[in-house]
Amino acid sequence: MAVYHHDVLIIGSGAAGLTVALNLPSDTRVAVISKGELTHASTWYAQGGVAAVLDETDSLESHIADTHVAGAHLCHDDAVRKTVENGPDAIRWLIDLGVDFTRLDRGDGGEFGYHLTREGGHSHRRIIHAADATGIAISRALIDQTLKRDNIELFENRVAVDLLLGNEGGDTHCLGAYIHDQEQDRTDVFLARSVVLATGGASKVYLYTSNPDVATGDGIAMAWRAGCRVANMEFMQFHPTCLYHPKAKSFLVTEAIRGEGGRLFLPNGHRFMPEHDQRAELAPRDVVARAIDYEMKRFGVDCVYLDISHRPADFIINHFPTVYAKCLQLGIDITRDPMPVVPAAHYTCGGVITDMNGQTDLPGLYAIGETAFTGLHGANRMASNSLLECFVFGKAASEHIARHRADVPLPQTAPEWDESLVTEADEDVVISHNWDELRRFMWDYVGIVRTVKRLQRAKHRADLLQSEIDEYYSNYRISPDLLELRNLVVIADLIIRSALARKESRGLHNMLDFPDSVDAPVDTVLVPDNARVRSDDPRFHG
Ligand code: FAD
Ligand code: SIN
Repeated sequence: MAVYHHDVLIIGSGAAGLTVALNLPSDTRVAVISKGELTHASTWYAQGGVAAVLDETDSLESHIADTHVAGAHLCHDDAVRKTVENGPDAIRWLIDLGVDFTRLDRGDGGEFGYHLTREGGHSHRRIIHAADATGIAISRALIDQTLKRDNIELFENRVAVDLLLGNEGGDTHCLGAYIHDQEQDRTDVFLARSVVLATGGASKVYLYTSNPDVATGDGIAMAWRAGCRVANMEFMQFHPTCLYHPKAKSFLVTEAIRGEGGRLFLPNGHRFMPEHDQRAELAPRDVVARAIDYEMKRFGVDCVYLDISHRPADFIINHFPTVYAKCLQLGIDITRDPMPVVPAAHYTCGGVITDMNGQTDLPGLYAIGETAFTGLHGANRMASNSLLECFVFGKAASEHIARHRADVPLPQTAPEWDESLVTEADEDVVISHNWDELRRFMWDYVGIVRTVKRLQRAKHRADLLQSEIDEYYSNYRISPDLLELRNLVVIADLIIRSALARKESRGLHNMLDFPDSVDAPVDTVLVPDNARVRSDDPRFHG
């Protein structure tokens, strides 16, 4: 076992983690941990772009108002304002880092000279993008800059297991984390003055998802186990259009295709969205996903079709080269043919509760990006607001860490990882079976449309799996699959409990037993038994 000492330990190498790393002062010793290679993150796969007010005919107030409407009026105004108001600066920072956004080629752009596209819920063109591979352009720039910094050490193929807590001076605080080294098959101790959870979302808890394999909610589960509150986990976002093809695992078809005129059809050729919402294909995501789900169930069809073929072929190929190439590989020429699409789990709107600097309930622990609940997204995230949140809150957290660095001593010791009482796992089938079972019942019972009965069924199964997995975890040596499964079952439990607690339908939470929305909605805050925030704390809303 090795023990590492850094000023800041960042778990996650996506937009959130690397934004924190790059904004820290150059004399700060930083460790960035990544479960796989640095690029294995949702950030890499982002297609549509980043929302920001970049055009003089647009306004901050309009972006703020659209976010509140898309979030079904559950967004926190302070988080919305902070994100939107810092949007243009975040884009300037990315451009300075070298992100090569698509330039303006016609009169539909903004003052920055870049092409701006539209997505659902936005009343204005305000999505800056790099064709339909924005995540690759951003990730490359962030990674290139990170590699140039002498103060940042990168650790790939390491899985964070749990947070380390200390109790000097009577106050519990975060000391670091146990990190499993997959190549060496050993678990090391990483100690730091500040720890940042930037582990992304939890959409792998569902059978069908647009997310890469790393999105197993590890940071949310670790923070929960360490005594942090989580909020609004019932709001799991389903992206309306993932490619429906046996050879296209998790391939998203960007909402920008609808932004540029793409329309949705039933297999019989009927365009159905105008009957569901006057914004038709550009309604917010929850509305479009629900409409597709409804039509698929009504007609018993396996998918619906997205068609952009009425736009000129060169426009389609230039703006959507990734989608064009992927579909062509599968025999679909999108300049002529519609694409078969279905909704799939896409984004975790809830997460670890933080303040406006990314601080969680546990002193020394920050959560940024999709892991965090800042209050920005409300009951439904508006398209392309999530990358923006990573940049804005990532910078705020790094500034806060830098301001308070001198107040926090560098931890010197922590208990070693002890495997003396466990043995080598003998039946991996327990892990693979439970992985499949969990993701299947979450899809069937806790999906786009919910009922109390289905949620109760899911709760029953999650409880059984939880005890089986806990027992397995206590008896056998850890492996990456076991660690992810242990986290996924916590995530499933948090989603189901939050969904049962919300007695209304709002945004992404659609309950047949409670079809109406209440007049004064509140966040669903879950408080762990070992909560770090006392109920008399002004931040407590549990
Ligand atoms: P991620 O980018 O997912 O990074 C998580 C990191 O944590 C990874 O490095 C992972 O290896 C690491 N990690 C996880 N668990 C552990 C662990 N236990 N130990 C060590 N490391 C760990 N949003 C937009 O705003 N615009 C878009 O156009 C857009 N398009 C999208 C398209 C797709 C297909 C997907 C999946 C998402 C899209 N989103 C988009 C959402 C957006 O990409 C994500 O919300 C955002 O990238 C999250 O960034 P993050 O840094 O929080 O997490
Ligand atoms: C997309 O390109 O459709 C994804 C955008 C997002 O998730 O914000």
